[in-house]
Amino acid sequence: RILILDFGSQYTQLIARRVREAGVYCEIHAFDITPEALRDFAPRGVILSGGPETVTLAETPRAPAAVFELGVPVLGICYGQQAMAAQLGGQVEGSDHREFGYARVRMHGHSRLFRGLRDERADDGAEYLHVWMSHGDRVTALPPGFRIIAETGAAPFAGIADESRGFYGLQFHPEVTHTTQGRAILQRFVHEICGCASLWTPGNIVDSMVESVRAQVGRDEVILGLSGGVDSSVVAALLHRAIGKQLTCIFVDNGLLRLHEGDQVMDTFARHMGVKVIRVDAAERFLSKLAGVADPEEKRKIIGRTFIEVFEEEAAKIANARWLAQGTIYPDVIESAAAKTRKAHVIKSHHNVGGLPERMKLKLLEPLRELFKDEVRRIGEELGLPHQMIYRHPFPGPGLGVRILGEVRREYADILRKADAIFLEELYRHELYEKISQAFAVFLPVRSVAVLGDARAYDYVVALRAVETVDFMTANWAHIPYEILAGISNRIINEVRGVSRVVYDISGKPPATIEWE
Ligand code: XMP
Repeated sequence: RILILDFGSQYTQLIARRVREAGVYCEIHAFDITPEALRDFAPRGVILSGGPETVTLAETPRAPAAVFELGVPVLGICYGQQAMAAQLGGQVEGSDHREFGYARVRMHGHSRLFRGLRDERADDGAEYLHVWMSHGDRVTALPPGFRIIAETGAAPFAGIADESRGFYGLQFHPEVTHTTQGRAILQRFVHEICGCASLWTPGNIVDSMVESVRAQVGRDEVILGLSGGVDSSVVAALLHRAIGKQLTCIFVDNGLLRLHEGDQVMDTFARHMGVKVIRVDAAERFLSKLAGVADPEEKRKIIGRTFIEVFEEEAAKIANARWLAQGTIYPDVIESAAAKTRKAHVIKSHHNVGGLPERMKLKLLEPLRELFKDEVRRIGEELGLPHQMIYRHPFPGPGLGVRILGEVRREYADILRKADAIFLEELYRHELYEKISQAFAVFLPVRSVAVLGDARAYDYVVALRAVETVDFMTANWAHIPYEILAGISNRIINEVRGVSRVVYDISGKPPATIEWE
């Protein structure tokens, strides 16, 4: 396995994703890892990430000296290269000539890292890589034992290496897709230079997780809040394989779910897989508490609180439960850790059952805490979950509660469910669903006029929202073709009683959030 030491680069997670894609397990740790923790981790190789600081100041981060004494290869990227060069006796200086973005680096003298890789060959035989640079400082004198393996005009030390020790430094970023050969360079490092085999495959991941869950829980009973979302579904399937009947899932129907969602969850898990699932029909309880409440934050609080109440009541009935399983994934863990190092006050609380483990004296079981979302999906497939469930768009905890503007009523929820189902069905039919990051309908409790036959009607408005985004922090509205929108609008108005007007939301985030409330 590979250890990635994080100096605070925005790309550190990407390095980890690339290494995992190469089939090699890796973890990200803070740059100030203790020498003991480093030795316990026993990496086959170490990657030093980039970072926002400058090595030219004395008090900025350095890698622990022990990293260079482990006898394993080390790859320094950007700031990581500079820290390595400075720590091993080279020199780093600030530079007026900053380089950001695309660059062409010329390779020198057949290094193991680049052998056989190139983007371009000039007439004089010089070979180039097309890379992504982002740096201000640069290495200006090599540490003893190092030689240059790549250079640009502005960065004569774009790539450096001491191949006898397996130490490599790159001033550019191999982890970003703009560096065409980046993936191949990282694969070369972990496979050939560090000698790691491609063992981190979905099948192996499942096997090793099943084993470790069994070792962890023994004969104890485990409770899981199953929502039908990707993460909790994969946890359910995984735990079912690991401990079978020792797992009880609780699925709370709050009356704010999508059309047939409850039945689908029961179908997949209870009927097909034989998972023990308790379905709690709490629609009435949620809806009566929401009656008369129009404020979005108030609605969120009521839904969250009621969920915890219902969940706790059900969980208390499972007398021998010792564990509460959760679908925490690696980005949540990294984000919480990063928030702690930033000394942030608010650390994201995972899912809806915060506080429950302590109150019920349950231990937390988080089998996905080392996985990225795409890995979670792949092991979901490995475990036999339906493709549609694994690639489903995210759905907020408060569900339709924040998609019915203002007061939530059962009548509104019923209308919205039908309109939403038509929207999604059409997106699937036109093979747009998986190209879009999130799509849904919103119920607007305003009445607009319509002429139905000879009569006038005053019916409700439904808004359609579809966005494309990578991280859900910013988003563009999806450019769904007009003809498809026309078909969706027609179907909703014809098939859903109570709706006479359909509008399409063309607002970007920021400033408009993805949800309407
Ligand atoms: P916004 O509306 O903030 O949404 O642009 C970003 C992402 O977060 C989801 N979202 C929520 N998820 N509880 C959740 O579990 C919530 O209260 C909530 N509000 C928004 C939203 O669906 C989108 O994916």
